[in-house]
Amino acid sequence: RPQRIAVIGSNMVDLVTTIDRLPREGETLEAPGFSLGKGGKGANQAAAAAKLGAPVLMVSRVGDDLFGADTIRNFAELGIDHRHVRAVPGTTSGVAPIFVDAQGRNSILIVKGANDHLRPADVDEAAPDLLACDLILLQLEIPLDTVYHAIDWAHANGKRVLLNPAPATTSLSLERIRHVDFFMPNQTELHILTGLPTETPADAETAARALLERGMGTVVVTLGADGALLVTPGGCERIAPVAVRARDTTGAGDAFIGAFAAHLAEGLAVKPALEAAGRYAAHSVTRAGTQKAFATREEFTEFCMALPQTPDA
Ligand code: RIB
Ligand code: NA
Repeated sequence: RPQRIAVIGSNMVDLVTTIDRLPREGETLEAPGFSLGKGGKGANQAAAAAKLGAPVLMVSRVGDDLFGADTIRNFAELGIDHRHVRAVPGTTSGVAPIFVDAQGRNSILIVKGANDHLRPADVDEAAPDLLACDLILLQLEIPLDTVYHAIDWAHANGKRVLLNPAPATTSLSLERIRHVDFFMPNQTELHILTGLPTETPADAETAARALLERGMGTVVVTLGADGALLVTPGGCERIAPVAVRARDTTGAGDAFIGAFAAHLAEGLAVKPALEAAGRYAAHSVTRAGTQKAFATREEFTEFCMALPQTPDA
């Protein structure tokens, strides 16, 4: 059977405003455009994996509002198992006001709402279905206690765990996450979590090694337009970037992680799965929006065929 992926994480409705610049205090400024989209790091990673054809189970919480119902409908449309996506009475759905400028750069606010109500007990409740999954994806838009509990549960039940420490917080206990199999920060997150410099790939590798010493299996540092680093006890390998013209980079990290998980689930080894993830994320930045920018399997295949052929290493 194909390997199954579970995401225990967030969902948000992205309120994307395109801007020329941010308004100053007291200023009212006209902005050129607005669109609603489905986001949230957990849901985005689930969406990328599902669009590539992986079987995905989502464990998440929505508010008892219109956005919540719409979010559940979106999971259904993506073919994601949403039996453990529930509304929490008296809460609002998570939202993310996002501002994108003409260069495709973004600034994001997140209001977690119902995502803050995903409890350790909710992981236990989903456990019978989680047992049927092979890889569990986690991010940091839900309570840290729930993240720790999910890691402990996975460790006790022999499931692989991928933790994307985003958004990074110094409250994250590196001791409590030492059992994760794949730890996937970007450079900023790695810096916040280790306190070490991460600006150059060499610095990022040194910081990643400090995490391996704590017991993590594999650290993958995403470097944006510079590709990624795969750091294991055995060495460090560079995942080459795929050059594209960026239109909107929102959610590119999530596209990368969801695509990596989907390719691992298909049976690819880590390095080729990361290379495929790099191509998938590159495609996502050529389109506006978050989940709606993510390619289906067919679109992704077409995009890859149009890329210049690189000689095999
Ligand atoms: O990683 C991008 C995501 O961060 C957006 O979709 C937004 O919802 C925030 O969670
Ligand atoms: Na995009």
